Amino acid sequence: MATHNLLLLPGDGIGPEIMVEVKKVISWFNAQGGDSFETDEGLVGGSAYDAHGVAISEEDMAKAMAADAVIFGAVGGPKWDSVPYDVRPEAGLLRLRKDMELFANLRPAICYPALADASSLKKDIIEGLDILILRELTGGVYFGEPKTITDLGNGQKRAIDTQVYDTYEIERIAKAAFEFARTRNGKVTSMEKRNVMKSGVLWNEVVTATHKNGYEDVKLEHMLADAGGMQLVRWPKQFDVIVCDNLFGDMLSDVAAMLTGSLGMLPSASLGAADPKTGKRKALYEPVHGSAPDIAGTGAANPIAMIASFAMALRYSFEKVAEADMLDKAIANALAKGLRTKDIASEGTKVVGTSEMGDAIIAELNALSA
Ligand code: NAD
Ligand code: IPM
Ligand code: MN
Repeated sequence: MATHNLLLLPGDGIGPEIMVEVKKVISWFNAQGGDSFETDEGLVGGSAYDAHGVAISEEDMAKAMAADAVIFGAVGGPKWDSVPYDVRPEAGLLRLRKDMELFANLRPAICYPALADASSLKKDIIEGLDILILRELTGGVYFGEPKTITDLGNGQKRAIDTQVYDTYEIERIAKAAFEFARTRNGKVTSMEKRNVMKSGVLWNEVVTATHKNGYEDVKLEHMLADAGGMQLVRWPKQFDVIVCDNLFGDMLSDVAAMLTGSLGMLPSASLGAADPKTGKRKALYEPVHGSAPDIAGTGAANPIAMIASFAMALRYSFEKVAEADMLDKAIANALAKGLRTKDIASEGTKVVGTSEMGDAIIAELNALSA
């Protein structure tokens, strides 16, 4: 039986609070026998800055590179607003993504039946929703050079961010999109802004060429990203897989979160390329939301995005599809019983805190495995 090594990086704000809940889930799976998960823990974000003066230490970076999967909470907060740019909490997450070469970020937005009333959109618009946003994660304006602020000496400053994409970066995320679409409803919508951005022109060209090169069984559609944002709230069920660059993916996935009821519901998986010899890939699993400084320390954080991110780890890093399905079902069942953290509460439901929601999901796992 295999042992899988997980590096837990709780981070800041509600990060450590939701990590407690995922640890309960990991212990639950360990208690079932079979493969086991060994966990190590590190610091990232503001907590790493406070301890080491950097957003992630070299030692923790090395642990992340060696782990079978990294489970990441959230980073950032007002406490670190004025620390230097290259050591701010978010830099730790960006370094992990870049150094681990996690180019494919999967952000599934699913509307659980019990939550069809929790969205700010009308029920018929989101009921049954199941879409996948595939965000390119190691390129684009996040990492392009130059990235500078220069003093022009006349009382003005100039800030420059640079959007850069090479063919191979677009091609590999496009392939991933077509391959995921084949396991789903067979449709990919590629979003860019080719009307104003050169990178949009190349994006469109490479996605189209990749499609012609062995993926024509998948339906491909192109949409300008601004119109895509509008369509996402107008009629989101028209989409299956949405593929887009790093920045559009960041924004569109926060929009998509509200289709599911709350940012606290959206999990993600960040995957690298499969090693040609072992088939293994580097991976990091994290909720889409941030450190939620406004509710940190109140016990109100929704742990579902974090726990569902662990379900994605079971699915994509450990080939434990039945276990992943079971964990997703346990989440759905806890919601079906009317339990809600504050962010997803509606009339007639019972508001519970972070740890009660975690416990309720464990109780559902027990019921499902009985
Ligand atoms: P945020 O996602 O932290 O919070 C936005 C809103 O959603 C807040 O009202 C918050 O209370 C709510 N929310 C988020 N997660 C929730 C949960 N699990 N349960 C209940 N409510 C939840 O975004 P922000 O406030 O714009 O950013 C705060 C900090 O987090 C910033 O420093 C930002 O850079 C950082 N951030 C980090 C990550 C990450 O670590 N992956 C992602 C996004 C933002
Ligand atoms: C996300 C976050 C990050 C991003 C930040 C914290 C660097 O917003 O994961 O969505 O912009 O990618
Ligand atoms: Mn974001």
